[in-house]
Amino acid sequence: LARGAAGPDLAGRHVVVSAGGTREPLDPVRFLGNRSSGKQGYALARTAAARGARVTLIAANTGMPDPAGVDVVRVGTAVQLREAVLKAAPDADAVVMAAAVADFRPAQYATGKIKKKDGEEPEPIVLVRNPDILAEIAKDRAREGQVVVGFAAETDDVLANGRTKLRRKGCDLLVVNEVGESRTFGSEENEAVVLGADGSETPVPHGPKEALAEIVWDLVGQRLS
Ligand code: CTP
Ligand code: CA
Repeated sequence: LARGAAGPDLAGRHVVVSAGGTREPLDPVRFLGNRSSGKQGYALARTAAARGARVTLIAANTGMPDPAGVDVVRVGTAVQLREAVLKAAPDADAVVMAAAVADFRPAQYATGKIKKKDGEEPEPIVLVRNPDILAEIAKDRAREGQVVVGFAAETDDVLANGRTKLRRKGCDLLVVNEVGESRTFGSEENEAVVLGADGSETPVPHGPKEALAEIVWDLVGQRLS
């Protein structure tokens, strides 16, 4: 099995990685967001570059500096993330969706700051669905043999929910994390199971996000060759 240490096994390959979490604006100063730090996506980008790949990193609201030797596209919302992924995908051997995409966005954007009024209850926030980027790229496969990978954070029935989600999304691999209040978000470490559409199950022991990233690229590499 070709590992990162063994040489540049992704040389000549182009991979697209999304990282971070989308923010859906309510008004010029407020948004609906999530707690994704982007660290797992950056680890995927760094390790792919170290293994010889050309890497496009689509970063949603991550505070980190651009990794060396990686093309970084910065986005804010789910709609912008979708545009950036669809633009990069036709040329990609693999697309890894590590970003946390907001499922919903506010139906209305207030161009001026929303103000409270004395004695009045606040207006409810009406939400609409965002596009499912992973399902769309997995269904359309911009390129023959392209490997599509998703990430899922689950709190209960992790494996059963992961299997159902893998099928629903139509991706080749789904990295399933068990999360809780103090686990995964913003942390340097991760623990996961990688489920394959071929029925495979690869447990990833608790360890640095780089180690999980290497295993993801091993599994992607197997499917590319
Ligand atoms: N994803 C996406 N577009 C969305 C939502 C999710 O591309 N609108 C991607 C994420 O980047 C991730 C995968 O789908 O790789 C799984 O995300 P998850 O939130 O677990 O899936 P959902 O289908 O939104 O399911 P849930 O209702 O459990 O949130
Ligand atoms: Ca979701």
